[in-house]
Amino acid sequence: MVHSSCILSLICVWFPLATACYSGRVSKENNSVPLLQDFKVKLSPGFIQLTWHCNITKSMEELQYNVDLQSGHLEELNVSRCSFEYDIHKSIEFIVHKGLSVELQVCSGSELLYIGKQLTYMPEGKNNSAAENFACVIYNVYIMNCSWTVGKEAPEDVQYSLVLWQKKKNIDCQQYRCDSFGRQVGCVFNHPNINYGSKVYVEVRGLSNQTSVQFFDKVYWPIKDGKVILDPPSNITLTYRSDDLEIKWEKPEIQSEPDSCFMYNININNKEVM
Ligand SMILES: *[C@@H]1O[C@H](CO)[C@@H](O)[C@H](O)[C@H]1NC(C)=O
Ligand SMILES: *[C@@H]1O[C@H](CO)[C@@H](O)[C@H](O)[C@H]1NC(C)=O
Ligand SMILES: *[C@@H]1O[C@H](CO)[C@@H](O)[C@H](O)[C@H]1NC(C)=O
Ligand SMILES: *[C@@H]1O[C@H](CO)[C@@H](O)[C@H](O)[C@H]1NC(C)=O
Ligand SMILES: *[C@@H]1O[C@H](CO)[C@@H](O)[C@H](O)[C@H]1NC(C)=O
Ligand SMILES: *[C@@H]1O[C@H](CO)[C@@H](O)[C@H](O)[C@H]1NC(C)=O
Ligand SMILES: *[C@@H]1O[C@H](CO)[C@@H](O)[C@H](O)[C@H]1NC(C)=O
Repeated sequence: MVHSSCILSLICVWFPLATACYSGRVSKENNSVPLLQDFKVKLSPGFIQLTWHCNITKSMEELQYNVDLQSGHLEELNVSRCSFEYDIHKSIEFIVHKGLSVELQVCSGSELLYIGKQLTYMPEGKNNSAAENFACVIYNVYIMNCSWTVGKEAPEDVQYSLVLWQKKKNIDCQQYRCDSFGRQVGCVFNHPNINYGSKVYVEVRGLSNQTSVQFFDKVYWPIKDGKVILDPPSNITLTYRSDDLEIKWEKPEIQSEPDSCFMYNININNKEVM
């Protein structure tokens, strides 16, 4: 009994310390803490890449450098590596096409020495050139039909491509739909290997020979955010038994349970039987 509570309290105390220092009062003067030089943030679909100048001193190696991404995702940096990559496909927790907020923190053990300003970094490319209005419709479980619109400021020759990610696996578009200018503005997936009950990371990249085009990304939850159009119930049988009429049917094909999501309507038109 004593042992297990010891273990429990150790876990409770040590777990947060391993990833963050106490966010109490900043205990040192700003300028006495060595900071990372040339700190850069590059945003691309599904990835955040941080880089800094590699002139790391011994005293810097003894400190702990953390970044807080999008106000809530604290990551520890190994300063000697001079770069850090965050793979959004793994967690599918946030999007970056509208920019990413980054806050640097420096700790020594559990002591917070420095909190930097929260800075917002933007992806490269012409503003308003990314795909917009992304939405999907799922028909009869096996067809997923997605569409988007061309960015307001996108160059005329823009070409978009769509990739979905789930469980670190990419699902490329199978069949694009084009607008009258030949620009890809939709995609049909036939029997995609997607679990509609969990999150999907959506990437729409844009290419042009005229200018650099911004990407679009989205955390998409097909059965919550999408429109699901199912087949009607099948195998409807009617059985008359003296004064009773029994109506039975089978539920349409679905990808995942639970059944409790189903609601049926019965309309009985009282017409004379010939
Ligand atoms: C660090 O210094 C800057 C400018 O001197 C100041 O604006 C900022 O509030 C300081 N931050 C902390 C955490 O002391
Ligand atoms: C690292 O190099 C930059 C120039 O790239 C310089 O400004 C900075 O003072 C150097 N920092 C350290 C800790 O040596
Ligand atoms: C940090 O990176 C360096 C260089 O790649 C490596 O030798 C070191 O073991 C890493 N430290 C930690 C704590 O992972
Ligand atoms: C693009 O949009 C961002 C945020 O809306 C703005 O800060 C930036 O100045 C814009 N860039 C250009 C070139 O218009
Ligand atoms: C997908 O949606 C588009 C536009 O909403 C429509 O024109 C197209 O016929 C649909 N394709 C399929 C296979 O349902
Ligand atoms: C860019 O130009 C090349 C060569 O003319 C062409 O093959 C390619 O399709 C163009 N790309 C786009 C996105 O327009
Ligand atoms: C339709 O329902 C009946 C009665 O429940 C059953 O015997 C039959 O196998 C079902 N047919 C199909 C195609 O599911």
